[in-house]
Amino acid sequence: VNHLLGIKYLNKKDIALIFETADHFKEVINRSIKKVPTLRDITIANIFFENSTRTRLSFELAEKRLSADVVNFSAASSSVKKGETLIDTVNNILSMKVDMVVMRHPNPGAGIFLSKHVKASIVNAGDGAHEHPTQALLDSYSIREKFGDVGGKNVVIVGDILHSRVALSNIFALKLQGANVKVCGPKTLIPKYIESLGVTVETNLRKALEWCDVANMLRIQNERMDISYFPSTREYTQQFGVNKQLLDSLDKQIVIMHPGPINRGVEITSDVADSDQSIILHQVENGVAIRMAVLYLLASKIN
Ligand code: CP
Repeated sequence: VNHLLGIKYLNKKDIALIFETADHFKEVINRSIKKVPTLRDITIANIFFENSTRTRLSFELAEKRLSADVVNFSAASSSVKKGETLIDTVNNILSMKVDMVVMRHPNPGAGIFLSKHVKASIVNAGDGAHEHPTQALLDSYSIREKFGDVGGKNVVIVGDILHSRVALSNIFALKLQGANVKVCGPKTLIPKYIESLGVTVETNLRKALEWCDVANMLRIQNERMDISYFPSTREYTQQFGVNKQLLDSLDKQIVIMHPGPINRGVEITSDVADSDQSIILHQVENGVAIRMAVLYLLASKIN
């Protein structure tokens, strides 16, 4: 059985194949073809133990465009609330003859754990502060679309690196493709091991933006902190928020990305998020083609 548990388990060729497949599906979507029969015999369960807007809707749309049968599970309205375990929950879903499971879970490694205990393809839709592989794939795909290639580009990831699965998966994906990667944020939100992944650290936002071609802005993940890692939101915004004045003062036009959800006025102002330098909604659009590609490639190995 094949899984997508993290970018850590992929190589450069895997990413190139996913992108070529996504190119094909994007063309299909752009020709206004609503559905292809590719996954007609496949049943997929989307099981979400954490909130999501983009990832959940985008997976469901991708599955439906591939003609898969889809069931959705949200922990908040399930028997998990009565004490049922993850394995029991998933095994009960699999008894209903499900082939693939797309799972978001607050615990790092939840997808890896599940893949060892159930007979279905597992797609990690975000596991705690660990990985969010399809987000990193759609982010790199969007950079490739903008510049023609990810290799050699200077990408800075700004914000709460410590609690971000988006940051970790992006670092793995960007490094595999030959990009230069910097992280920028308060020292308290940058993990000690980060330089061992081949990235550099910059705590001065202006310097980081002057260096980069692309800035990927992250939200502060307050839900993953039991103590405050930074004095105040106001202070964070002053030092690490991107506003139009700062953007316009740079001597080049950089590309602004954000995985969402955006906290407008904190890490990014509205006039930056909505500017023509922002590709935030293109990222969301590309998410559907990327997820169609991932599901198609995994399903081709079922049976
Ligand atoms: N980018 C992302 O994972 O967004 P959601 O949490 O809304 O799925």
